[in-house]
Amino acid sequence: MAKQAFSTHAPKKVTKDAALPVRGYLAELSLDKKLPKDIDALVLAVFAGEDSLELSGGELLDFIFNTEQQAEILRQLEAVGATGKKSEITRIPGVTGVGPVIAVGLGKAEELDDETLRRATGTAARSLKGLATVATTIGDLGLEAAVVGFGLGSYSYTGLRKAKDDAKEEKPTTIHFISTNKADKDVFVAAQIIVESVVLARDLVNTPSSHLYPESYSVIAANEAAKFGLSTEILDEKQLEEQGFGGILAVGNGSSRKPRLLKVEWKPRKATTSVALVGKGITFDTGGISLKPGAGMENMVSDMGGSATMLATIIGAARLNLPLKVTAYLPMAENMPSGEAFRPGDVITHFGGLTSEILNTDAEGRLILADAIAYASEDKPDYLLDTATLTGAQLVALGLRTSGVMGDGQFRDTIAETGRGVGEPAWAMPIPEELDEEVKSPVADIRNTTNSRFAGMCAAARYLQEFVGEGISWAHVDIAGPAYNTAGAYGYTPKRATGQPVRTFIQVLKDLSEK
Ligand code: BES
Ligand code: ZN
Ligand code: ZN
Repeated sequence: MAKQAFSTHAPKKVTKDAALPVRGYLAELSLDKKLPKDIDALVLAVFAGEDSLELSGGELLDFIFNTEQQAEILRQLEAVGATGKKSEITRIPGVTGVGPVIAVGLGKAEELDDETLRRATGTAARSLKGLATVATTIGDLGLEAAVVGFGLGSYSYTGLRKAKDDAKEEKPTTIHFISTNKADKDVFVAAQIIVESVVLARDLVNTPSSHLYPESYSVIAANEAAKFGLSTEILDEKQLEEQGFGGILAVGNGSSRKPRLLKVEWKPRKATTSVALVGKGITFDTGGISLKPGAGMENMVSDMGGSATMLATIIGAARLNLPLKVTAYLPMAENMPSGEAFRPGDVITHFGGLTSEILNTDAEGRLILADAIAYASEDKPDYLLDTATLTGAQLVALGLRTSGVMGDGQFRDTIAETGRGVGEPAWAMPIPEELDEEVKSPVADIRNTTNSRFAGMCAAARYLQEFVGEGISWAHVDIAGPAYNTAGAYGYTPKRATGQPVRTFIQVLKDLSEK
């Protein structure tokens, strides 16, 4: 997309080749049989032994260092107080010929799991700034986890800056994963695809709403999908009108930046199972006429995180060549207050004909999802998975990092378990039966909020449930907290956009395709 000065009303024309204005920084990842010459640092794993530090790396380590050199490295580490506890980073001069060593603590060897490895390597990656070439033997303990940890941990987003335009592009750090195992190539490539998928979601979410609004977002997202051979279709405001997408239109109407619906399809020949992915794409959420308080409103740049997750997931599925049919339905709108905005008390007619009474225009995500879920249901998928930065109540119930998963029992539980398995915390939550009464409206089929302060996350799920077609296994994942990190960076998770839960959903699709 061309560079654009800020403009409140008429955004610059979106061209067909629109792309993100800037992308985040990502280290280059490489798989090597030998230790490259002239590295700036070697990253080694250390364990906390019973009463002393242990170097990890077995044969691979013997390949690089003789016994004396290994003893010298241990001596240096102990001299500066390294303990080997999880994610501890220690830099030492190392030994002649190999150079500086960065030791990464992994805790007790017998307790090592993938998440410990991802977090420790992610923490290591965040300490590599300024180094051009780094090698590591840590892949030996789990190549996929190490690539994901290093890759995701290396990410940073610095946004749009004059200084960056003027300076020459900074050369990224190259991280060489040393492996002598031939079979590692496939694991490495798949892990790289996972990293790049998560990073795509992060980049989209991090992009300011001045640059990412429904029209530009739909074209940028479609172009990303098309790069990997997926087919795409964008419905503009006229087509949405003709086909009766009353939820998307009502929410988008307050903005001069008109709404869109992007459909992306991955349809491999051998597919027998079909999955619909639906993601909330509110490019900015002011609350509309039910205006949000000012403090923290800037974080609503992340309110399209659900759609970014689903775009990244379907692209990841295609790149991994997963043998199942996946279709993503991504409704996009900007929720603004204006003379054209929808109001509390309005009744809107969704795609498919169901009506909603609006009690609060800030409960807008469910309105655009309702249209998209009804639309997706027409295609009769076996599974329908939706995700959204849907409720503040998710944060109240589960905190900053844990997604709430609701929907049909078994599918819901599978998703929550899969999430925890890949290090994206998720927890199954109910849709209590008393909510059936609470979402009833005197003037429409359903209303968009209850009158109660209780179970706000579950009430949103109850609302969405109304629009899911019969016979479809459905799950809804509320990522209000997990999608966007307003606290500090930790492990492989940066500040701002996290890319959660892309890895969960790619794993879910992988498992469904192997069923
Ligand atoms: N986008 C917000 C939810 C949100 C809150 C996401 C905090 C990330 C962090 C959503 O559209 C919203 O405003 N929901 C309301 C619903 C309420 C009016 C029933 C909420 O949670 O307050
Ligand atoms: Zn809202
Ligand atoms: Zn919202």
